[in-house]
Amino acid sequence: MEFFVDTADINEIKRINNMGILDGVTTNPSLVAKSNKNFKQLIKEICKVVNGPVSAEVTATKFEEMYKEGIKLSKIAKNVVVKVPLTVDGIITCKKLSKKNIGVNVTLCFSSNQAILAAKAGAKYISPFIGRLDDVGKNGVSLIEEIKKIYSNYKNFKTKILAASIRSTKHIEQVAIAGADVATVPPKLLEEMFKHPLTNKGLKMFLEDWKKTKQKIL
Ligand code: E4P
Repeated sequence: MEFFVDTADINEIKRINNMGILDGVTTNPSLVAKSNKNFKQLIKEICKVVNGPVSAEVTATKFEEMYKEGIKLSKIAKNVVVKVPLTVDGIITCKKLSKKNIGVNVTLCFSSNQAILAAKAGAKYISPFIGRLDDVGKNGVSLIEEIKKIYSNYKNFKTKILAASIRSTKHIEQVAIAGADVATVPPKLLEEMFKHPLTNKGLKMFLEDWKKTKQKIL
């Protein structure tokens, strides 16, 4: 399973990247707005720090402009993945960019039908938003399970399932069980993944017992 961080905060990205467990980054226009930075410069900086795919989203809604934006974003760095919304224009853009060997992440996916369209258009990633589905009373994790089943029925579907809009550590476990290829996780949740009271308790006991031996490793 690959592990992406879902943020445009460069300091958080650097900190998490130093842990050695990061495979990539996803950003979106809302996260970029929150960062208060110049979008293209920010993507360039993230791409230098992270040795893996960095999703940068187009903001045009019509194919012609979307495509031009995608080409421009793809030129920022080799590891840029162009993010397009799951609309007719987005799918056309995905097909055209993919044909040029530019990686595309199709975002805002809320159904299996949409995931089929993204795979048909040669998307590198499909991003089902599980948290936002849960928010409207649906089951986001079930969508990941469904897409996994559908994609595994067809050898020509090479699109990776990138579980997005993850809201809890439970979600992370569930999408891993469902077989998502990637989970993109907000930094706050990553901290949570480390935590278990028995780890703290166990470590405290080990260190107390070690002290009694009066030995040193170094
Ligand atoms: C994924 O690429 C999106 O940036 C993200 O996961 C959206 O999550 P949200 O629903 O918490 O905004």
